[in-house]
Amino acid sequence: MTRERRWAVTAVALAIVFVVGLALTNAWWVRTHRPEAASPPVTATPSASPTPEPEPLVSPPPTRGTTSIDNLTDVHDSVTEEGASIDISEPKATGASQLTDPIAQYIAKVRSDFAAHAKSATGAKLKVAWDVITATGPYLGITVNVSTVTDADHSRTETKSFFVDTVKGETVEGQRLLTNAARDRATNRLGTAAEDVRFSDAGEPLVVGHEGAYPLPASDEALTPAGLKISKAVSDKEDFAPLPAPPKPKPKPDGDGVDCSKAKCIALTFDDGPVPSTSTLLPILRKHHVHATFFMLGNSVAAHPDIAAAVAKDGHAIGNHTMTHPQLTKLSNDEIASELDRAAAQIEKATGKRPTLVRPPYGAQNARVLSVLRSRGESSILWSVDTLDWKHRNPATTIKRALASSKPGGIILMHDIHPTSVQAVEGVITGLKERGFTFVTVDQLHR
Ligand code: NI
Repeated sequence: MTRERRWAVTAVALAIVFVVGLALTNAWWVRTHRPEAASPPVTATPSASPTPEPEPLVSPPPTRGTTSIDNLTDVHDSVTEEGASIDISEPKATGASQLTDPIAQYIAKVRSDFAAHAKSATGAKLKVAWDVITATGPYLGITVNVSTVTDADHSRTETKSFFVDTVKGETVEGQRLLTNAARDRATNRLGTAAEDVRFSDAGEPLVVGHEGAYPLPASDEALTPAGLKISKAVSDKEDFAPLPAPPKPKPKPDGDGVDCSKAKCIALTFDDGPVPSTSTLLPILRKHHVHATFFMLGNSVAAHPDIAAAVAKDGHAIGNHTMTHPQLTKLSNDEIASELDRAAAQIEKATGKRPTLVRPPYGAQNARVLSVLRSRGESSILWSVDTLDWKHRNPATTIKRALASSKPGGIILMHDIHPTSVQAVEGVITGLKERGFTFVTVDQLHR
């Protein structure tokens, strides 16, 4: 080969290497830089692609503690039964226990399941705890955490949420706030039942599992209508409509169940009513939890049967002060009986109860009057303290006289027909209470 020919062959070979290299480089460039869309979708050939990254979980939203809600209390029970330790905390809405009943029923079932399956195992433990997860608008969300240890190798934790609607008075399980599709998706991702549904501050539902919370969109794709309502209340940051307050226990009148042989008892008595000022007196007695005795005139009861009924309804004792307020000592036996019968009929008609206590007008009685009363099965009740309220019509004097002469077992005479007497009642009550007296009705004095 000539020198020229060898040079030409080398040049051709180099040219071929260059061209082939260029082509290969170009092919690599095209392969590595073609747009994503040009590649077949990963889901279309699942067998060929690697396992997709699981959807990310997030942290569960913070809880609010068990003591943050008025009228929601923690009822705690810790016992050891047949070697198993049972520690249960459960929420109770004190004023509306029906709201927490579904939670109580769930916990009762957890407890009976534990008793049936795990209790006999040594070292078995059941612990139930709860927490508030939502308190907005009428919605109160509560999560209940159950952990069970049956033996060293077997322990289980599950949480379940409940949502109380304090206005409707209903309680639903958290899982009922999710659509079936959303519930299935969460169950697949978490590997556990989607029972602990909570809400982020933005109102997004989160299903809490062992490793974290699975977020779902705040839309009808994931939430049922009930769930959407709660989601909206949460994202709107509505103020929590409080739980109903527990009913106040009815205060017992001070004299109820009192033993007057031991306590310093005293009876307030009011004569000649009922009249409109009696209606002013009743709230004062109610305020101080005092029961008094009213000796009513038959004619006044006939004129104000509603006031007589109100006196009886407040729990006061009612006695007979005759029909027309005569001096009984000046009447015949039949006239005495007639005065008492007519008044008793009016009182019974207005209050439903026939009186057996009699206060003779002016305190006028003698052996004959008393024998008529005895034959009727009735007792005469006079007084030990005369405030003379009808005479001086001065509240301060009435109070002074009542306080000065009251002794245990005493009966104080006043008249509810005088507004000045009604004005004195509060002072009489507080003064005597300060001196250690307990107010009773006349019939209680002699029980
Ligand atoms: Ni009188």
